Amino acid sequence: MVGNRHRTPISGRGDLGPAGDHPGLVDPEYLRRRDALVALADGHQVGRPSPHVTYRDAEHRLWRTVRAALWPAQEARACSLVLEAREDAPLPADHVPQHREVADGLRQRTGFGFTLAGGMVPNDRFLRSLADGWFHAVQYVRHPAVPLYTPEPDIIHDVCGHGIHLASPWFAGLYRAVGEAATRVRTEEALELLSRVYWFTLEHGVVHERGAVRAYGAALLSSYGELARLHEAELRPFDPAAMGRASYQVTGYQPVRFAVRSTEHLQDVLRGFLDGFDDGTPDRLGLEPEVLRTELWRAPASPVAGAAAEHSPRPGRHAASTTFAMTSSRRTPSGARSPGSPVSSKPRRA
Ligand SMILES: [Fe+2]
Repeated sequence: MVGNRHRTPISGRGDLGPAGDHPGLVDPEYLRRRDALVALADGHQVGRPSPHVTYRDAEHRLWRTVRAALWPAQEARACSLVLEAREDAPLPADHVPQHREVADGLRQRTGFGFTLAGGMVPNDRFLRSLADGWFHAVQYVRHPAVPLYTPEPDIIHDVCGHGIHLASPWFAGLYRAVGEAATRVRTEEALELLSRVYWFTLEHGVVHERGAVRAYGAALLSSYGELARLHEAELRPFDPAAMGRASYQVTGYQPVRFAVRSTEHLQDVLRGFLDGFDDGTPDRLGLEPEVLRTELWRAPASPVAGAAAEHSPRPGRHAASTTFAMTSSRRTPSGARSPGSPVSSKPRRA
C-alpha cells in the first residue's frame, strides 16, 4: 500500500490517481455549488441554527447511492456499539437531511446538535464546542462522479459517521469528554495532541471484536473504501504518545490504525487519558513541542496533489470531517485519506 499513499480514488470505479485530479477539486460547476454552501458558514456563531439548503435531485440521488452502499458495509465491518447506535440514529435513507432534521433527533437522545462549518475548523473552536454539545458539520455533498469517495468531509460523512455516534449516549459521552479536556488547556501543543488522539480514536479507531478488527471511528463508518480495507492497515495498540507522533494520510487510506481490545477497553483508556489531560500532558508523554507544531500528514509528491492537500483535513482542524473514500469493492490498491479531513483530501472515507 505504500505505493498508493499519494493516490486517491478519482473515478466511480475506484481508479486511483493524483489527489489533485479528483473531480471535486477541478469541476467548476461543482466548485461553485460547494463554495456557495460553504459561504453560508461565514460568520456562523456556534449554536445558531444552520440555514435551510434546497438540495438538488442529483444530490438526493447521490445520498441514496452512498447510503445504500454504506449500510451493508457497516453491518459487515462495524462494531456492535455502532450498529446499536445506528438503530436509533435519525438518518433518512432517501434524501439529504437538513442539519435541523438530524440535530432534533440527536438532541432528544444525547443533547448534541450540529453547528455549521464551512470546512476545516480550528482546534480550539471544534474541540471546545463538543463540551457544550455542538458538533461542527458541513452542508455540501461530495462530487457525484466519485460517490464512494471524497477527499474532504461532506455532509454524508458528518451524518453517517458522526451522526451515528452522537445518537449514542456511550459515544456522545466520549465526545463531551474530549470537549471538556479541551476547555482545560490553553496551549496549542496540548490542543494539537488532543486533536490527534481524537483523530486516531473517534475518527479512525478500530476495535477487536468477535474475532475480527471492526470499525468504530466516524471516518471509517462513512467510507466504503476504508471499511473494505480495515485489514490492510498496520495496527498498533492504544497509545496517546504514539498517536502524537504518528503521521497520517491526507490523500489516501490511513496506513496506521490504533486498536483497542474492546469497547470497554476504549472507555477505560480514552476516558482515563481525557480525565487527566492538562497542559502538562504532552511533556509527561515525552512529546517535544516541535513534534506537536509539525504537521505530520504525508505530503503528496506532486505540486498538484500538494495544492489539494491544503484543503485536506488534518487532525487538528476540524475533525469534522474526514473523508471518505470509497472505492468499491474492487481491489485496487488504494486509496487515500486522512485524518481529519480535509477537504480534499482526506480521502478516505466515503
Ligand atoms: Fe469527521
